[in-house]
Amino acid sequence: MDPAQLIPIVDPIPIPGPWFDVLLIITFLAHILFMNVVVGGAVISLAGHVSGKGVPLSRSLSKRMPTILALTINMGVAPLLFLQTVYGQFDYTSSVLMAGYWLAVVGLLLAAYYGLYIYDFKFDGLGGLRTPLLVLTLGMMLWIGFMFSNNVTLMLRPEKWFDYFTTNGAGFLNLDDPVLYPRYLHFMVGSLAVGGLFVALVAHFKAEPEHLETGMVWFTRATLVNIAVGVWFLMALPKDIMLRFMGGHLPSTAVLVLGLVGALALVWSGMKRNPVLAAVLTVITVLFMVIARHIVRTAYLAPWFDSSQLPVTGEYSTLMLFLFFLAVGLPCVFWLVRTYLKPDNAQGDA
Ligand code: HEM
Repeated sequence: MDPAQLIPIVDPIPIPGPWFDVLLIITFLAHILFMNVVVGGAVISLAGHVSGKGVPLSRSLSKRMPTILALTINMGVAPLLFLQTVYGQFDYTSSVLMAGYWLAVVGLLLAAYYGLYIYDFKFDGLGGLRTPLLVLTLGMMLWIGFMFSNNVTLMLRPEKWFDYFTTNGAGFLNLDDPVLYPRYLHFMVGSLAVGGLFVALVAHFKAEPEHLETGMVWFTRATLVNIAVGVWFLMALPKDIMLRFMGGHLPSTAVLVLGLVGALALVWSGMKRNPVLAAVLTVITVLFMVIARHIVRTAYLAPWFDSSQLPVTGEYSTLMLFLFFLAVGLPCVFWLVRTYLKPDNAQGDA
């Protein structure tokens, strides 16, 4: 049977698909950076408890993590909508094929959210229970991330969807895909780096030099490890896609080279212990990586789909309305975040 027969028919969309691709890339960048901070922050907190030396830092992080998880979720909604708008026929299908696992994400997310709140509000009373609670909460967040990686890689492999007929309709994941593991690990090691950077940034603005050093050490070491994981990820890609990034396709190669230069610059800024420079470079580097990830998706789907060929109804007014609210909304969000980060306003810090 031809896998193309399993791909649902597309519906027309208001404006050309590439518009949504751009919005998907930008909003996903925001989602992934917040996700990095909350997952990395939880790991660094845990390390503080396990070593016994980092409890003040864990306490400081505990106050911020519930809000950052909320922002991660909020920032996830926009890319989810854009993803479904353009790639719905792939993403809905993979979501249905892994339905049980996928629906469980909602419950686990709520539980993880509660976990972070309890960790914050009952920090002192929890005593020795802090570590198991954090392990459980972190485990749920790691599992959720793994489900996202499964979903967005399963959607790229219509030929794998035939498993539905051999598993008697039971849900399944994309575990036999060699790309899944380095890809997921790349995100999680990145979380350690960005989590460390967050610690360093907060320390920088609150003049806490000891936390600054801890944060920058996490950032630098994790980035070094992630360069190796990134190479593994690249090598695990199907050969034709990998070769695109190695000179086979100029724009793809340029994006990867810029991302790699960015990664080296991150290590340099980490060694200089300069969190502000590191933060600017991180946003730029992760942007290149997110674009590279988008190129990977486009290349995987090329035999079946091209977003610029989607039927369009031409209702540009919806785009204008969206851009208007984005332009008005974004400054409000920045103001909210800035207000929140001010020392006097950080929850429980007063
Ligand atoms: C603890 C919570 C979460 C974690 C750890 C997490 C982690 C991740 C990771 C690791 C990826 C990348 C997967 C890959 O490319 O292999 C991802 C993608 C994504 N996440 Fe999240 N996520 C979380 C919550 C959410 C929520 C609540 C939403 C939506 C409301 C969301 C929306 C998305 C979307 C739409 C993508 C894929 C975007 C694309 O493929 O272009 N995430 N997430």
